[in-house]
Amino acid sequence: MKRPVWTSRLGFVLAASGSAIGLANIWRFPYLVGTNGGGAFVLLYLMCLGLVGVPVFVSEILIGRTTGRAPYEAFRSLGGSLSWGIAGKMTIITGFLVSSFYSVVAGWILGYLVEAFSGNLHHFGSAKEVAIHHTSLMENGTWALGYHALFMGFSALILVLGVRQGIEKVSRLLVPLLIFVLIALVIKGLSMDGAEKAISFLFEPNWEELSTSGVIYALGQAFFTLSIGQGTMVTYGSYVDKKENLISSAAPIVAMDTIISLLAALAVFSIVFAVDAEPASGPGLMFKTLPMVFSQIPSGYSLAVAFFFLVLLAAVTSQISAMEPMIAYLVESWKLKRSTSVMCVALGAFVVGAPSALSSSILKNVTFGGWSFFDAISGLCSNILIPVGGFLAVILVGWKWGVRQGLVQLRLGADGWFQRAPWLNQYFTFCLKYSTPVLIILVFLNAVGVL
Ligand code: PHE
Repeated sequence: MKRPVWTSRLGFVLAASGSAIGLANIWRFPYLVGTNGGGAFVLLYLMCLGLVGVPVFVSEILIGRTTGRAPYEAFRSLGGSLSWGIAGKMTIITGFLVSSFYSVVAGWILGYLVEAFSGNLHHFGSAKEVAIHHTSLMENGTWALGYHALFMGFSALILVLGVRQGIEKVSRLLVPLLIFVLIALVIKGLSMDGAEKAISFLFEPNWEELSTSGVIYALGQAFFTLSIGQGTMVTYGSYVDKKENLISSAAPIVAMDTIISLLAALAVFSIVFAVDAEPASGPGLMFKTLPMVFSQIPSGYSLAVAFFFLVLLAAVTSQISAMEPMIAYLVESWKLKRSTSVMCVALGAFVVGAPSALSSSILKNVTFGGWSFFDAISGLCSNILIPVGGFLAVILVGWKWGVRQGLVQLRLGADGWFQRAPWLNQYFTFCLKYSTPVLIILVFLNAVGVL
């Protein structure tokens, strides 16, 4: 069977941006900035992006494009051994696990969008009321499981249509729509009283609040937001035409992803500061702080609907990209039909995600060393599997395959860039061989408590 290819560069850029722009930008980034020293964290994050995120991101797309295979075959053929194939398989499994709990969170968002539509998110009298409402939803297993199933089913529908007709078409529609809704929210936010405070909070570095855990969060955020370390970019890269200029494609994706994180933070904090709410309220920012804010401002209803609609748009294109590596693998290595493969992955991810969906209700008391099922599986992916997957991709390119070979491939279609900016050679060589793997190891050792 002929392997699919994106219809154009724009098609790839939008599909990959759709993957990159997700809950991590709109939900996680604002609260990480809020709890880790504002501008200081933003600067640190940009450094992690440049020294670790971008090199891994480019390596993964390059591995995919060079081999034209899903991660298992791709790693195996470039690494030249079955062990590398197993490393590739690990990244596929990581993507699958991510898709299982990502759908649960996206399900909550879908549920909240319905709440917003029904007018249930903008008439709270106190923070306590918001918390009670939030708990009543989270403790309702049917609610969480139902929306998880609905979201997964919807993602499967898109995936069945294929790479061009499904993933690419939907991304071409949803990514511009998302940018439009976000800009509308930013304009609204900037017209509110909290704008000035939000800008200084975001851009003035507050170094005292930055701790070692901030460094770990910044790196983890760079990985998660670029969808690296989990087979996604290798797979999306495998649908890229061999002659495509990878630098010209990667640059707008990373730029767009970063700008959207910053704009989302700006919108969220302007709204939050407009009523003097607490910026550093952790993950509860979206589900607890914002509904309180929506209750205190005049256009609360439409803002609530627009906000959760925005987050949902971002989640759809990311979810399908987390499922695609496993689907591509089953099609390629198990010779399954695409529709069968989508069914298996969607059903599998639904079942694996079910305990996460129920971890605030009937499985509330089932914990692993104090962690709920949801925390355990998302922690395992974000803190261990994803960094290890990214590390293996740079080692594969930087050491096993060799930077020289890698650069030869990277220059295909991108020679103009390398002539205009010869420092790109040194940048990639230095990062792929030294700075990126070393930084990942240091942060990883710190995260597991060795350093
Ligand atoms: N990049 C997505 C986000 O920012 C998350 C994601 C990770 C999606 C991995 C797909 C694969 O939310």
